[in-house]
Amino acid sequence: MNRSLPVPTAARAPRGEHARGDAASHAGALVRGVVGGTVDYGRRLPAAEAAVAAVDVHRTYRQQASDVQAVRGVSLSVEPGDFLAITGASGSGKSTLLHLLGGLDTPTHGEVFLAGARVRDLSEAELARHRLMKVGFVFQRFHLLSMLSARENVELPLSEAGVPRRERRQRAEWLLERVGLAHRLAHRPGELSGGERQRVAVARALANGPRVLLADEPTGELDRANSAAILELFTSLNADGLALIVATHDMHLAEGAGRCLELVDGRLNG
Ligand SMILES: Nc1ncnc2c1ncn2[C@@H]1O[C@H](COP(=O)(O)OP(=O)(O)O)[C@@H](O)[C@H]1O
Ligand SMILES: [Mg+2]
Repeated sequence: MNRSLPVPTAARAPRGEHARGDAASHAGALVRGVVGGTVDYGRRLPAAEAAVAAVDVHRTYRQQASDVQAVRGVSLSVEPGDFLAITGASGSGKSTLLHLLGGLDTPTHGEVFLAGARVRDLSEAELARHRLMKVGFVFQRFHLLSMLSARENVELPLSEAGVPRRERRQRAEWLLERVGLAHRLAHRPGELSGGERQRVAVARALANGPRVLLADEPTGELDRANSAAILELFTSLNADGLALIVATHDMHLAEGAGRCLELVDGRLNG
């Protein structure tokens, strides 16, 4: 079986390429300055070419009683092919950071570069399109639509991207086969185990051939065997060149990632 990930027609079209050029060199300068160390451009890419980069990112939730500083000055860079785990106690800011890195939220201070664009430069509609085509999300509770079959759930983002019906169907089936669910195409989420639901969610996240997959506690609802299957799947996707960022309490998952960063009160430890 061909295990590399084919990119659907709509995702191949040269659209949604924002903020190259100036932003790329600007981002490179920012990352050199803030992330630090010497950057060898023979091997490392500037931030706009990184899968994801954060430069001195803060997120403060404004509350009536008092503000919550959930993320305080995080800088990091994730290159294509990296597998990064973000760990930390509950309330340390993992979900907030993951939302910022995936362009689901914008920082109160600092910059996020996501799959070739500076998030701040995109309008809401452009950002939604950019996320649809370039970023995959997986959540603890799967977020599948209960009335749709596994295949129809995976087809949704392809449909949003304008992929024609036949190709949509073929690709959804291929992706479900890729995550080991070729025998569950017509099952609805309620007819699947937790581990199977999460694998459908991973297939859906891969629908449009993203540059990066972000997962928030993806094994939080799963037993040990199913958690191990998710780690195995992530490892094999990473071997195909996909960048992964996983927020997790699960030490087996964190140890399986190539790199691990710990958040303590919204800051990276060490
Ligand atoms: N929408 C929100 N409004 C206000 N405070 C929030 C919101 N989301 C998270 N927080 C607070 O921000 C901090 C970090 O939360 P979170 O990012 O969910 O941490 P983690 O995922 O590590 O458990 C916590 O103190 C939490 O209570
Ligand atoms: Mg969380």
